[in-house]
Amino acid sequence: MVVRRFHWLPMLALAASATFATAQAQQRPAEAFAPKDERIEDLPEGPGRDETFGLCSACHGYRLVSNQGMTRDKWDETMTWMTERHGMPDIQGADRDLILDYLATHHPPKAPARAGGFRNPFAPQ
Ligand code: HEC
Repeated sequence: MVVRRFHWLPMLALAASATFATAQAQQRPAEAFAPKDERIEDLPEGPGRDETFGLCSACHGYRLVSNQGMTRDKWDETMTWMTERHGMPDIQGADRDLILDYLATHHPPKAPARAGGFRNPFAPQ
């Protein structure tokens, strides 16, 4: 009989979650895909993460950066390009090294076999 007394509980939970989902759906559209949806916690951890995210997501989503895979030299060129063409602050010295190390470590050139097509999910990373 104990079981029967609580049979309304699942219904209540269902109703509550439906209300919640509706409230969320109403908030979503205006903000969908805004760069602000990106959170620093989504980036791989490592030295320079805060600096890189802060600098590179000032003008565009960090996804534009993380979609790329480049060598350290190419990232260096990209930073110069961002400065010369788009007015990014000209970061030099240790700060630049920190950011370049982060970019080169976490967004290295993609191996050709991984660029598209089949990826073996069991292959060692
Ligand atoms: C002052 C603004 C600004 C900052 C800061 C900035 N960018 Fe950009 N970036 C742009 C603009 C504008 C574009 C798109 C136009 C273009 O491709 O020229 C762009 C495009 C890119 C692209 C795409 C290029 C392509 O081939 O599609 C990459 C990669 C990139 N930025 C990397 C970076 C990195 C890495 C940083 C941080 C070190 C950074 N950006 C910081 C303005 C900025």
